[in-house]
Amino acid sequence: LGGLAAGCDSGDKKGLTVGFSQIGSESGWRAAETKLARQGAEQRGITLKFSDAQQRQENQIKAVRSFIAQGVDAILLAPVVSSGWDEVLGEAKAANIPVILLDRQIDTPNVDLYLTAVTSDTIEEGRVAGRWLAGKVQGRDCRIVEIQGTVGASLVANRKKGFEEAIATAPNLHLVRTQSGEFTRAKGKEVMEGFLKAEAPGSICAVYAHNDDMMIGAIQAIKEAGLKPGTDILTVSIDGVPDIFKAMADGDANATVELAPDMAPRAYDILLAYRKDHAPPPKWVQTPSKLYEPDTAAAEYARRKDLY
Ligand code: AHR
Repeated sequence: LGGLAAGCDSGDKKGLTVGFSQIGSESGWRAAETKLARQGAEQRGITLKFSDAQQRQENQIKAVRSFIAQGVDAILLAPVVSSGWDEVLGEAKAANIPVILLDRQIDTPNVDLYLTAVTSDTIEEGRVAGRWLAGKVQGRDCRIVEIQGTVGASLVANRKKGFEEAIATAPNLHLVRTQSGEFTRAKGKEVMEGFLKAEAPGSICAVYAHNDDMMIGAIQAIKEAGLKPGTDILTVSIDGVPDIFKAMADGDANATVELAPDMAPRAYDILLAYRKDHAPPPKWVQTPSKLYEPDTAAAEYARRKDLY
């Protein structure tokens, strides 16, 4: 076996073995990413060794070490947090095993530790959401609450930053509360219940959630408070999972920014090309961030419900 950096062989006469250290299964988007990683591997004749870290970086570090010990040809890593990867990725590098980051970036002074990162522009996702909201409220005063994802993940600071940048151009938009809902439905609901209790009745104009699952939880909390989500409180979130399209089609949600779930198949293709032509891929392979609104929600729901 062995790695792909300088000196890799020129073809894939035998199938590749790839290790994938996945974060967990906190959201519908994450489940879709896992499903497409398995399907994409099968379609390409790749043997996938899958490890679920259950949200813990130490489990991911163990998984990467185990993949190295098993001599996989490459490693996919969806890093739960952004810091603390240099040592273990250094070990992968020393073993000549290329690592591809999926859906989140890491903080490191040494970008040679990974081959490429397949992610969206997570600052831009926040901007897209903020611009949409500014356009929607049209100069009306609007108090916004924000439900953030997992603390310490690269994209959480970025999704916040981009959103704040976009709403800074509209003096009528005020971000009044922000809290982590850990990317889960249950926690999103709990956080929204807290916001509704803390704010004067009827004073929240919009909720921005860093993923759709937390928004689905927030929608539930809004309904239980006797309000109409999508009308009394506007919603904008990120991911594009089937349930948010269903909520939009039902009039309970207003917008989502899609995050492509096929990160692993994109990574496999990069890897296969790299093994063939030895040309290093760009350090960042960007996936699109498209905004969806209720007008296409029913069709998008029908299209996606079995894909995810
Ligand atoms: O890293 C991608 C994020 O992680 C998704 O937006 C969220 O749903 C997931 O848990």
